Amino acid sequence: MAGHCLETDIKEIADRLGEEARRFEGQTVLLCGGAGFLGRYFSSVFGYFNRAVLASPCRLIVCDNLITSGKLGATQADGFRFIPHDIIQPLQIDERIDYIIQAAGIASPYYYRKYPLETLEVATIGTKNILTLARQHPLKGFLFFSSSEIYGDPDPRHVPTPESYRGNISCLGPRACYDESKRLGETLCTIFHQLYGVPTRMARPFNVYGPGMQEADYRVLPNFASRIIGSKPLHIYGHGKQTRTFCYITDAIAGFLRVLLHGGHGQAYNIGNPSPEVSMLDLARILEQVIGRPLPLELIEYPDSYPADEPQRRCPDISKAVLQLGYKPQVSLQEGLSRFMGWAQQAYTGSQLS
Ligand SMILES: NC(=O)c1ccc[n+]([C@@H]2O[C@H](COP(=O)([O-])OP(=O)(O)OC[C@H]3O[C@@H](n4cnc5c(N)ncnc54)[C@H](O)[C@@H]3O)[C@@H](O)[C@H]2O)c1
Repeated sequence: MAGHCLETDIKEIADRLGEEARRFEGQTVLLCGGAGFLGRYFSSVFGYFNRAVLASPCRLIVCDNLITSGKLGATQADGFRFIPHDIIQPLQIDERIDYIIQAAGIASPYYYRKYPLETLEVATIGTKNILTLARQHPLKGFLFFSSSEIYGDPDPRHVPTPESYRGNISCLGPRACYDESKRLGETLCTIFHQLYGVPTRMARPFNVYGPGMQEADYRVLPNFASRIIGSKPLHIYGHGKQTRTFCYITDAIAGFLRVLLHGGHGQAYNIGNPSPEVSMLDLARILEQVIGRPLPLELIEYPDSYPADEPQRRCPDISKAVLQLGYKPQVSLQEGLSRFMGWAQQAYTGSQLS
């Protein structure tokens, strides 16, 4: 069984951070949603910092209710403290906390269709509970994981989309439980900064991918990988012309840590890779090049399990993170897909999807 990530990727993230990693020397970090895809990377990166970079180790407290974390979520590494907890309930921590990463959420459209109330509540009540906890600690940084979905289906004149774009969202639509709750989560972070001085920062990730995405995650790349490994035709929903950009996990985690350490308080940052913006049909063709063989495709109707109204285009304007944080994605789509597929060949069974 493959591990949840590539050790070379963890080292790559640490190298990108360089001396900045030393800011975590002797610090305690609370990581909510730490058993998820991004959370497991944060754990591994902090574990690597402790082994290879920091003279005095940082302490990580991982909190997760395991609602969507699957079998990989059970494999917490590096001996950090784990608190099984649903953050929709208040949380008390009996030791000093220096940084908080609020990554708990229900991120896959499949799961937010399945758990709409849990999705809404983790981003709103859950985030408020963690912000309330933050007030009791001498915090240096609080990072909330928002989403590119807060922009909804953007007007094409606002693609690539900057942080200043206000979004085009239906509060009644099938995706509202996710999109609207992330928006409210951001509002809470802004208010807790204004009223109580909590040093909040917000990241808006644009389709992060990489080794460690669960086969049963149902986002597009795990879906495609599972079908390739199971020798099944790729299923493309609708006309296949809807576009996305994809940000490889090492670029993304290096960006998120920069937001946590250096973002303006009460500010939001797009974290993604704007190039290339590809349709789902293009993505399948690029995967063919990576795999080195033709991949049969089927255009199918959107399944009932997938929330309708998906955005037609999604591409970040990352100028703010580039200028203010020195953020720079470096892994090409071909290179990232090659690393992801190499890992998935070991980790996936190909039997997940019918
Ligand atoms: N990965 C991406 O491309 C992406 C894009 C946009 C936004 N995000 C946001 O980033 C965060 C992390 O994303 P991810 O890809 O790691 O998702 P993930 O689903 O893999 O991980 C989220 C984790 O949060 C946990 N969780 C959910 N509800 C909880 C609750 N009430 N209490 C405690 N734990 C809870 C889940 O069990 C899971 O382990 C999420 O908030 C997601 O909405 C991610």
